[in-house]
Amino acid sequence: MDRLQDEYGNRGEAMEASDDVPTNPLTQPTIGDVIAERLGRRDVMKGALAAGVLASVGGAAGLFGAKSAEAATSRYVFDEVAHGVDETHHVAPGYDADVLIRWGDPVLPGAPTFDPNNQSEASQLAQFGYNNDFLGVVPLSADRAILCVNHEYTNEELMFPGLGRQDKKDFADMTAEHVAIEMAAHGGTVVEIARSGGKWAVDPNGARNRRVTAKTPMTITGPAAGDARMKTSADPSGTKVFGTFNNCAGGITPWGTYLMAEENFHGYFWGGAGKDASKAAVAAHPHAKSLKRYGVPGGRYNWGQHDSRFDITKEPNESFRFGWIVEVDIMDPSSAPKKRTALGRCKHEGAATIINGDGRAVAYSGDDQRFDYVYKFVSKGTYDPANRAANMDLLDDGTLSVARFDANGGMEWLPLVHGHGPLTAANGFHSQADVVIDARLAADLLGATPLDRPEDVEANPKTNKVYVMLTNNAKRKPDQVDGVNSRADNIWGQILEITPTGGDHGSSTGTWDLVVQCGDPANAETGAVWNSATSKNGWFANPDNCAVDPEGRLWITTDQGSGWAKASGTADGVWALETEGALRGTGKMFFRVPVGAEMCGPWFTNDMETLFVAVQHVGADGTKDYKPFGRDSTFDDPATRWPDFKGGMPPRPSVMQITKQGGGKIAM
Ligand code: FEO
Ligand code: CA
Ligand code: CA
Ligand code: CA
Repeated sequence: MDRLQDEYGNRGEAMEASDDVPTNPLTQPTIGDVIAERLGRRDVMKGALAAGVLASVGGAAGLFGAKSAEAATSRYVFDEVAHGVDETHHVAPGYDADVLIRWGDPVLPGAPTFDPNNQSEASQLAQFGYNNDFLGVVPLSADRAILCVNHEYTNEELMFPGLGRQDKKDFADMTAEHVAIEMAAHGGTVVEIARSGGKWAVDPNGARNRRVTAKTPMTITGPAAGDARMKTSADPSGTKVFGTFNNCAGGITPWGTYLMAEENFHGYFWGGAGKDASKAAVAAHPHAKSLKRYGVPGGRYNWGQHDSRFDITKEPNESFRFGWIVEVDIMDPSSAPKKRTALGRCKHEGAATIINGDGRAVAYSGDDQRFDYVYKFVSKGTYDPANRAANMDLLDDGTLSVARFDANGGMEWLPLVHGHGPLTAANGFHSQADVVIDARLAADLLGATPLDRPEDVEANPKTNKVYVMLTNNAKRKPDQVDGVNSRADNIWGQILEITPTGGDHGSSTGTWDLVVQCGDPANAETGAVWNSATSKNGWFANPDNCAVDPEGRLWITTDQGSGWAKASGTADGVWALETEGALRGTGKMFFRVPVGAEMCGPWFTNDMETLFVAVQHVGADGTKDYKPFGRDSTFDDPATRWPDFKGGMPPRPSVMQITKQGGGKIAM
């Protein structure tokens, strides 16, 4: 609730940290404890790390798996990009990386030409929004598709002339018009794209084009719909809500809908000006325990000053209507998106859906906060590939569960079902609505394992293994880890692999392993573990998004934020990461973003000829540590003017398409 946390280099980090509010009470062993315990029994690992020798440890099926990289052939055919940082992007030799759509580009017919000095709400509503994070592509034919892009948050210091960072100065210069533009720049974009001569272009007249914003009318479905806590003065039914925001990652379902994950929603709620007012507002709230567990109100934006629904003293229930997975029927641009409450309420990083062998839809989702959990939803009904309409409400009925990881390498999914175990009225859970609205509190009671900020979770349909990006956890204390794998103050993150029992995503059990422990393998103090085949450019820090390509190969994108200089010294990017065989744990750098940006997406077309990536908040993060610039970046004085490099034009978050020169499949 202290809005003035200058230690955070950007708004997103500040919201993700939120450690000044009590969150997970940490009654369970952390994944670090569990990893440490496993590694502690592996003498080979202990010796290897103690000697500063890297990788090539463990058995072929064991932790950090590969035995020897020699004589193995990389599954990824390309020449690496080098670590580094500068004002522009870099892609592997022999590839083109072209901007497909930028902040301010037209999405709807009649959108005005982008003029950052005269931006308005009306213009922004018809234009591509800010900070593109998740992207997904739904094919309509071989050369026509629908592109779906989340707009996670806004950086007023880079969007508006003369403002600078407002969360550091009580939003003194933010007008109602600024706030209206921010709301219009949030949400998502659905836009048709067409390919000609091997390159894609946006069709601003596409019949399915739409903008989703912080004001778009939506429907609340599933167990929380109509619950007393979902009712507000504007919606006595508890079933209708305006908008979505802080949509970080997301997903495309097998039935062709677009899932938008509501992540740091708490940051948009307000309890009055100043820390004391916020504390008093929480204390007076009938559900103070819930608010505290979710960090509401975060006070990172001042929307509550201009719109009372974001002020918890005026609309005490509005915040319960955020923190959900939103499903958008992209084939009908007039459809009301649906908040699928059966998937639980948390700071959802994303939602990746896979069809299980028995036909049920399974959605995995990380709750991106230090010491929070990974969730899984298994639908009751089954997917019908021949009947799209029959699949449209699969996400309304099913079983939500949360993961517990055990020291012996096993793991269990614990059902979040009202009346089951401790989830009873005696513990404050009176209905399934209570369970999903307070999914974090329910998961605490079940003994889920607190993780190091779980971000994207993706299943590999070829192996049925599931990959969890654990991005970092600088808050882990030494007494929360022990043994060989000393990863207290874990600023680098690691990648967790879950193998469901019998390859069944509906199973309540599985095993787990780590693919890599991130950071610089040449610096033994990091405790990094990579396959020894990894080059000096192949390692990375802070895995955030990931994709499994149609060949079943894993790709990782990173988000180091303002900590990039300390975590790696390179800008964020895209890395290939081997998961199978002797090269398991080998990284390889494919693409690099400009200074201050984060790498999001990534998404491959089914023909493997295009990789789409999202360059988010370019010129924003950690620019003080970028030596040629060395100061905070603003609209008037940005660290880079990528991608336009035109005087007066600020940096613009952009979606890019990467293609092989002369055509062909990526990295093959
Ligand atoms: Fe928006 Fe979890 O990063
Ligand atoms: Ca993220
Ligand atoms: Ca992500
Ligand atoms: Ca991120």
